[in-house]
Amino acid sequence: MQINLPEKVSHIISVLKAEGYEAYAVGGCVRDCLLGRKPDDWDITTSADPLSVKRIFKRTVDTGLKHGTVTVLMGKESYEVTTYRIDGVYEDGRHPREVTFTDRLEEDLMRRDFTINALAYNDDTGIVDCFGGLSDLKNGVIRAVNDPEKRFDEDALRIMRAVRFSAQLDFKIEEKTLSSIIKKADTLRQISAERIQTELVKLLVSDSPQKILSLYETGISRVIMPEIDRMMETEQNNPHHMYNVGIHTVETLNNSREWNDRLSRADKRILRLSLLCHDMGKPDCKSTDEKGTDHFYGHAGVSEEIASRILKRLKFDNDTIYKVRTLVKYHDHRDVLTKPKLRRLMAKIGDDLMPLWFILRRCDTNAQSEYKRREKLECIDSCEKLYREIVRDKDCLTLKDLKVDGKDLITCGFKPGRQLGAALNRMLQIVLDDPGKNTREYLLSGELIKELYRETENK
Ligand code: CTP
Repeated sequence: MQINLPEKVSHIISVLKAEGYEAYAVGGCVRDCLLGRKPDDWDITTSADPLSVKRIFKRTVDTGLKHGTVTVLMGKESYEVTTYRIDGVYEDGRHPREVTFTDRLEEDLMRRDFTINALAYNDDTGIVDCFGGLSDLKNGVIRAVNDPEKRFDEDALRIMRAVRFSAQLDFKIEEKTLSSIIKKADTLRQISAERIQTELVKLLVSDSPQKILSLYETGISRVIMPEIDRMMETEQNNPHHMYNVGIHTVETLNNSREWNDRLSRADKRILRLSLLCHDMGKPDCKSTDEKGTDHFYGHAGVSEEIASRILKRLKFDNDTIYKVRTLVKYHDHRDVLTKPKLRRLMAKIGDDLMPLWFILRRCDTNAQSEYKRREKLECIDSCEKLYREIVRDKDCLTLKDLKVDGKDLITCGFKPGRQLGAALNRMLQIVLDDPGKNTREYLLSGELIKELYRETENK
């Protein structure tokens, strides 16, 4: 079996060999090549100790000398070259307290998480497969190397990695590995929010985001996001629904696969985080009327608060939090079938998020019961048609698009500060209703100016 190694990887391997050492491409890059996927990065494992690696290559960075890793720089690219190692006792579910270097490749492969990640390759030897990784790749199986419990004790994040790989590759988790995941799920508490975030996002942007369900089934969500468990325990006895809140959420993610190839990774990330959170407020807002029908009044606002809390907890950046909050807050906004109403919504959601809002509305609707589904989808279509016209006509949506600015109003005698802000906002409202009025003649006409001055002078 042959892998086309990038030239620079081949070069590093042959230089190490010429110096009398062994060297292989290892881990995710080998797995991805065999699956016909493009590897994100190339890792090299070698019998050379870190100081020798530093001596042999001119441009290097001491990435983790203690753990045997030296980054070798080649042109604009960089490659992690790590000495064969046996990991010692793990202190905190993440860092081995000490690592011992070894000169046996097999021992290095043995410390790795899953058989499909424990494959090595170079052009002379071909694939080195000590733990059945090739057959697991062929059969679509995620299986821990040797004893799963030990692998998860070494690094609890591997519990989430298993589910993430199963979503990325559409693989099944082998039975014993799965039971260990269930048994050890609680140990994910030791893992930092940043590392959990990375795995969660990789799972969500994968081709099978609906596998978020496995987080619930294995008990992982109870530890990292109990809000999911609450949704799973909230029934929705309402003609518009056919699933509980949790399964409905999973279905919305499943529906989002339709847009897999049409969205950038960044957009997929925002959309799917929003879908995950859009109904999280429902458990808190549930009421049941005298006929036994469940209602969830005000849930979008509560979902927004919960989304914000979760994303902060998982250390997401402010831009992501803002975008997800916005989509969650307006996810249920349906009364926008006139241009003035839609323009107001667009002003709140913002240009860049509107395309995602329409996708979210469709994913949500298609995960509800069939009751009135056609009408609901037709409404979204009509709304999108209006949206396109508004974009085409470049209707004014923000203060920046107004044909007048603060200076104009100061010239007319408005006081800078509150009064000015209030007057500009009133003008925006007028123009959102009727873009034809976005002219200097109209907005600066004596009558309107007088009226707005009176309205705002006590602000
Ligand atoms: N690895 C491991 N346990 C971890 C993380 C990594 O055993 N908790 C090993 C695996 O052999 C893995 C390799 O280190 O293949 C590289 O790790 P990483 O780059 O994090 O993951 P990849 O498998 O390359 O996958 P991805 O790039 O999709 O994260």
